[in-house]
Amino acid sequence: MSNYHIKHLEEYYQVYRKSVREPEHFWEEIAEEHFLWRKKWDNVLSWDFTKPEVKWFEGAKLNITENCIDRHLATRGDKTAIIFEPNNPKEAAVHISYKALYHRVNKFANVLKSQGVKKGDRVCIYLPMIPELAVSVLACARIGAIHSVVFAGFSASALATRINDSDCKLVITSDGSYRGAKTIDLKGIVDDALNECENVSTVLVAKRINSNVKMKAGRDQWLQPLLDEASNQLKAEVMDAEDPLFILYTSGSTGTPKGMVHTTAGYMVYAAYTFKNVFQYREKDVYWCTADIGWITGHSYIIYGPLCNGATTIMFEGVPSYPDFGRFWEIIEKHKVNQFYTAPTAIRALAKEGVEHLEKHDLSSIKVLGTVGEPINEEAWHWYDDNVGKRKSPIVDTWWQTETGGIMITPIAYATPTKPTYATLPFIGIQPALMDEHGKEIKGNQVDGRLCIKYPWPSMARTIWGNHQRYKDTYFSAYKNKYFTGDGALRDEVGYYRITGRVDDVIIVSGHNLGTAPIEDAINEHPAVAESAIVGFPHDIKGNALYGYVTLKETGESRDQNNLRKEINQLITDQIGPIAKLDKIQFTNGLPKTRSGKIMRRILRKIASNESNNLGDISTLLNPECVQEIIDNVL
Ligand code: WTA
Repeated sequence: MSNYHIKHLEEYYQVYRKSVREPEHFWEEIAEEHFLWRKKWDNVLSWDFTKPEVKWFEGAKLNITENCIDRHLATRGDKTAIIFEPNNPKEAAVHISYKALYHRVNKFANVLKSQGVKKGDRVCIYLPMIPELAVSVLACARIGAIHSVVFAGFSASALATRINDSDCKLVITSDGSYRGAKTIDLKGIVDDALNECENVSTVLVAKRINSNVKMKAGRDQWLQPLLDEASNQLKAEVMDAEDPLFILYTSGSTGTPKGMVHTTAGYMVYAAYTFKNVFQYREKDVYWCTADIGWITGHSYIIYGPLCNGATTIMFEGVPSYPDFGRFWEIIEKHKVNQFYTAPTAIRALAKEGVEHLEKHDLSSIKVLGTVGEPINEEAWHWYDDNVGKRKSPIVDTWWQTETGGIMITPIAYATPTKPTYATLPFIGIQPALMDEHGKEIKGNQVDGRLCIKYPWPSMARTIWGNHQRYKDTYFSAYKNKYFTGDGALRDEVGYYRITGRVDDVIIVSGHNLGTAPIEDAINEHPAVAESAIVGFPHDIKGNALYGYVTLKETGESRDQNNLRKEINQLITDQIGPIAKLDKIQFTNGLPKTRSGKIMRRILRKIASNESNNLGDISTLLNPECVQEIIDNVL
C-alpha cells in the first residue's frame, strides 16, 4: 500500500509514526515509487548535525526537470502545466501545456548553453511573474546550472549584493514589468546593479512592456531571437542527488543576506510529497499559489511541487488590488481554482474591503485554502473561512521557511481537523521539539518554547553559499544536535503547534522577512545619523510594520525632520527595496543600552507597540534616562 496519498487522520498518524520510526525506509519507499531516477541511490541518508552535514539519496542520479516535465509527456502532454494570468485582466490568459513547456524549457536551456553556461554555474534570474520566469528556472535545472532567483522588488544594490555573493556570470531579466497600474524599469535596475558586478558577462532580456531600454553592446541580448533560433530538443544533464539545484537568499540577523543552498533529490521528493498531501491535489484540479517565484513559496509550490505531480499551476503577474480588490475572486472564478494558497497579509488587505467584491464571483470551485508566511490572526482566519471557503473548505495554515525547502507543520486538508491560528501537526517525517532557555527540550503538551527540528528531512538547506560556518552558527549552534528555526511556538493539549513568531532580529512585514541589521546599516549611511534601531509593531494589514529609532550626530532641531525621514526611507529603498521602508521614524537623543553596549530592542519594541506601561526593570540599563524621553515622544 502506497503512503503517497494520505486521506484520513488515522492514516496520517499511522504514516507519521512509520516515518519517525523508520525514516530511511519510509523515504526510500516514497522516492522509489513516485519519481524518475537515472540511477537509484546507494544510501538513503547520512547526517551529522554537529558539522552540520546532511545527505539524502547519495549516489542517485536524476534530473528534476525530467520529473517535472518529461515523465508527464506520455499521459499529460496536452494537459495545462502553467496558466499565466496577466496583470491586465483584458489581456488573455496563456495556457502552457506540458508538451509546450517541454519545448520552451529545452529552447531556453539551449540558449543558456550557447551562452556558455555549464553545469554548476550560477545564473541570476531577476524577472517579474511572467512565463519566462518559470521557464528559465527549469532551463537552469535542465542543464545543471544553479539558479538564484532574486525577487524583482529588490533594489539595484540588493541585487548586486546577491549577484556578487554567488558569482553569477549571467543575468536574466526583462525590459520592465507591470505591477497594477504602474510599470517598473527592471532593466534599468539591472544596469545600475551591474555597475557593481564585474563578473557578469551576459544579460538576457525578455520583452514584456516594450519599453525603450538601453542595450549594452557585447553584454545585453534580447531573449526572443535567441529562443527562436534554438532547438526545442535537449538531453537533460544527469545530476547527482546532492548537486545544488538553487540558491535563494533570505535575510538574517547580520548585514549580508544568506544564500540558502538547496540540493536536488531530497528537495524534489519533499516538495512533491508535501504538495500532493497538504493540498490534496487531484488530477483535474487547478491550483493557484499567489506568491512570487522570487520567494521559496513560489519555488516549491508554484514550480517544483506542482509540476512534479503533473498539476496545473497558475502564475499571476499582478496584484490583488488591480484593477480592483475583486481581482483574486475573478481569477478563481475564471479558472475554476480548486486550491488557493495565499498569505495572511493579503487576506487582511482583502478583508478590509468587505465582502462586496467577493459576492460578485462564483467561488464554488474552491476545495482547499492555504496560508503561509507569518502567523495568521484569528480574525483573518475566520474571514477567510467564512467568506472565501464558505466554511466548507479546510484552511491549511502551513508553517515553513526558505531554509526548510518545504512545508513542515501543517494540517493535511480533509484529514487534520483545523484550529484557527494553529499550524496544527508536524508533516510526515518532521520531528519538532520545543526548547527552553537552558537548552533543554520541553516535553508534554500545553507548553511553549523555541521551535527546533531534531531529525533531518529531505528538503532542508544544506549550507549557506560560500559560508558554511555561518550556516552552522545560525541554525545548529543554539541547541545541540538540533536545527533551530528562529521561531517561537506553543503546543496545545492535543499536540497542535501554534507558531508565535520570530524570536530573533528578523521582522516579517507583509510576509517578507526583513533582518533589522541591513536596514539599520542603510540608515546609518545617512551623514546626519549617529545610530539607529529598528523594531516591529503591530499593523492591521502588514502584520508588522517597521518603527525606527534614530539618533542624530547633531541635535535634530536644526534639520527639517520630515525631510530627514524621507531621505532615510530613500536610502532604505535604494539599498534594499521599498518593502523595507519604515512606517514611523522617531528621532531621539539616546537608545537604551545594556551595560555591555547592546541596544535593548525589547524595550523599544514595547514602546513602539504602545506597551510602555509594561517595560519591566530598566534600572540595570546603562542609560535608563533616555527611556522616558522616548516614551514621551512616541509616534
Ligand atoms: C514565518 C516562507 C506562522 C516564520 C515559507 C518563519 C509563519 C518565516 C508561517 C519563514 C505560518 C511562515 N505561521 N509563521 N504558517 N509560515 N512563517 O523564509 O516566522 O520567507 O520562520 O519562508 O515566516 O519565512 P520564509
